[in-house]
Amino acid sequence: VSAAGAALGLEGKAAIVAGAAGGVGGAIARGLHGAGVSVTLADRDAEGAGRLATELGEGALALDLDLRDDASIEACVAAAQARFGRLDILVNAACVYLDRGLASTRAEWHAALDVNLVGPALLLAAAAPRIGRGGVVVNVGSVGGKFAATGRALYPASKAALIQLTRNAAVTLAPQGIRVLSVSPAWTWSPALASLAGTPERADEVGRRLHPWGRVGRGEDVAGAVLLACSDLAGFVTGADIPVDGGFSALGPDQGRPPRDWFGGE
Ligand SMILES: NC(=O)c1ccc[n+]([C@@H]2O[C@H](COP(=O)([O-])OP(=O)(O)OC[C@H]3O[C@@H](n4cnc5c(N)ncnc54)[C@H](O)[C@@H]3O)[C@@H](O)[C@H]2O)c1
Repeated sequence: VSAAGAALGLEGKAAIVAGAAGGVGGAIARGLHGAGVSVTLADRDAEGAGRLATELGEGALALDLDLRDDASIEACVAAAQARFGRLDILVNAACVYLDRGLASTRAEWHAALDVNLVGPALLLAAAAPRIGRGGVVVNVGSVGGKFAATGRALYPASKAALIQLTRNAAVTLAPQGIRVLSVSPAWTWSPALASLAGTPERADEVGRRLHPWGRVGRGEDVAGAVLLACSDLAGFVTGADIPVDGGFSALGPDQGRPPRDWFGGE
């Protein structure tokens, strides 16, 4: 257990991370495991989840999960609880990036919302009765759910809805002593960003203009915020969205440049 992990008081807890075979979900699973949390790595990519579980060793379990399937969701939650004897934390980090904007068909809308919104909602509903008092659900939102982007529709709508679901679930589950939060990354180094940028250096170089901190995010940045959210140190924080974006959402449309700049310094 890392020193930071011990300070957060998460040691001995048990978590499910949905989407753990992915870039961000994998980093979150690593972070929780490093903090002494037993982690169920749940993903449709069972092979990827299995590789990470083998790497992490004791206290990590890989499970096949398809968020589009009720039986798969129920089986995942039951198996995770049976393996570790408790359930304290659920992280919803799976997603699909399917989005053809306003050209998307009804089938595409359903497919995107099924994984990005409906699946996470049903996983939360299945997990909540098994999560004890002091438990936490963290949904991974996105700046995409808070700001407009030309040509996109499915992904941003799904993320905005997930951020709103977070608020509703937080007030619903507060009497059970379960906190519900979202974290919203901006551009984060991942297979999706790699396919556009090629290298982390190039991603940082281009991303610098949109992220005042001077670089794009890393999975570990998101993991750090999730660890904080899960700690009892954040025990009075619920229903909130935590930006993990290097200042991206602090900027307005003027990108932090005063009018003088836009007029060429006149
Ligand atoms: N990468 C970014 O720049 C960025 C920015 C903001 C938010 N996010 C959010 O972070 C999270 C992870 O994103 P990422 O970039 O690491 O994506 P990723 O594609 O690397 O990981 C997503 C994971 O979800 C899994 N998945 C897809 N469909 C599934 C299903 N039906 N059932 C179970 N698992 C399924 C995939 O197998 C994959 O392992 C997402 O919620 C995404 O919206 C990412």
